[in-house]
Amino acid sequence: MLEFNFNKYVDKFINPEDRNKYLTQKKDIINKFLSSDMIGWTNEIDDNLVERMINLSNKVKKNSSCLVVIGIGGSFLGSYAVKEMLGNYFNDSSFKVIYAGTTLSSKYMNELLNYLETIDFTVNVISKSGTTMETSITYELIKELMKRKYNLDEIKERIIITTDKEKGTLRREVEEEGYEDFIIPDDIGGRYSIVTPAHLFPLAFNIDIKEFISGLTNGKKYLEQAYEYAVCRKCLFDAGKTVENFVSYEENMYYFTEWLKQLFGESEGKDGKGIFPVSTIHTRDLHSLGQFIQEGNKIIFETFFKVNSSNVVSYKNTDLHFINNVVLDSVQKAHFDGCVPCNLVTIEKVCEYSVGELMYFYMLSAAFSSLLFGVNPFDQPGVEVYKKEVKENLRML
Ligand code: PA5
Repeated sequence: MLEFNFNKYVDKFINPEDRNKYLTQKKDIINKFLSSDMIGWTNEIDDNLVERMINLSNKVKKNSSCLVVIGIGGSFLGSYAVKEMLGNYFNDSSFKVIYAGTTLSSKYMNELLNYLETIDFTVNVISKSGTTMETSITYELIKELMKRKYNLDEIKERIIITTDKEKGTLRREVEEEGYEDFIIPDDIGGRYSIVTPAHLFPLAFNIDIKEFISGLTNGKKYLEQAYEYAVCRKCLFDAGKTVENFVSYEENMYYFTEWLKQLFGESEGKDGKGIFPVSTIHTRDLHSLGQFIQEGNKIIFETFFKVNSSNVVSYKNTDLHFINNVVLDSVQKAHFDGCVPCNLVTIEKVCEYSVGELMYFYMLSAAFSSLLFGVNPFDQPGVEVYKKEVKENLRML
């Protein structure tokens, strides 16, 4: 269950007329949202597909000690964020899932290839376009290693491709080589693809994806709050707060805030508009960026994530989690007094279901926020510009 507070430490910064103006646009914004041809992520997830993902993950576990997921951006961040939030810090007995394709660092690649020499693994390459450079290079390098290590039949068992249903080189490879495949539907963009096999399949190895999907589906009930949050963000932007800091008091939510940065950054940051998303993990970042937030340039507003229940660790007869949340409450108040508005999202307990709800709430909010700015939430023309430039410069390869 999620709870929201977009008032307590926010109201005095918001012009009530602005708020009313945006609230009265609700019907119009929701109609625009519903008329988009990129909201496939609001559709139900097919039960047969879910069974297929679970069965295939069980099959892979039999011949591999590791799944290597290759993908970047919207084909990486969602499942990585969930894996981190629901995993253990130490004493990790889960099936090993490692991620590659997010860097061109040759140190990383060299160590990865050396490591993969020593184990049996399966690869899941994920790219909607099938042409993303980082993904392609990593996949080719790992495939070369597989060709040295495995025969053709074994390779066929060990490559799983997740891509568009018709377009791109990966789709052609599926057709030519007969690899197992999953589809990223046309009407779902990368950063909204948490509901697709791009994320659900890698997650099926270690988490109860049925529970997670149930949370995603039930996230729909937060439509009103998602709109209210979008209005609050827009009013704060109008009041000169052009940076949103996502604040977590749990280390394992770091990649969730990375996912949020992509979601808002790519959805909203267009036509010279948008709120710049950043994140801090407390309490450690209070000792680095805390000073700036409290007393620096007043362009920041914050959204805090509070987790209600956690493991009990007692410190001098007091629950450590209680102390962590006392710090959270105190920091919100201090920042508010320092002219930094603070929203609050409370998560009763971090589990498959609540993470699903939270992600769905945020996808709705990002879409509504972008529409309030008057930009298309579902394209990313700026990302394509850099991809094109790199291609030009690497033409000789
Ligand atoms: O959100 C997006 O659409 C992008 O961030 C893409 O996910 C990212 O560029 C990777 O693209 P692809 O899945 O085509 O390899």
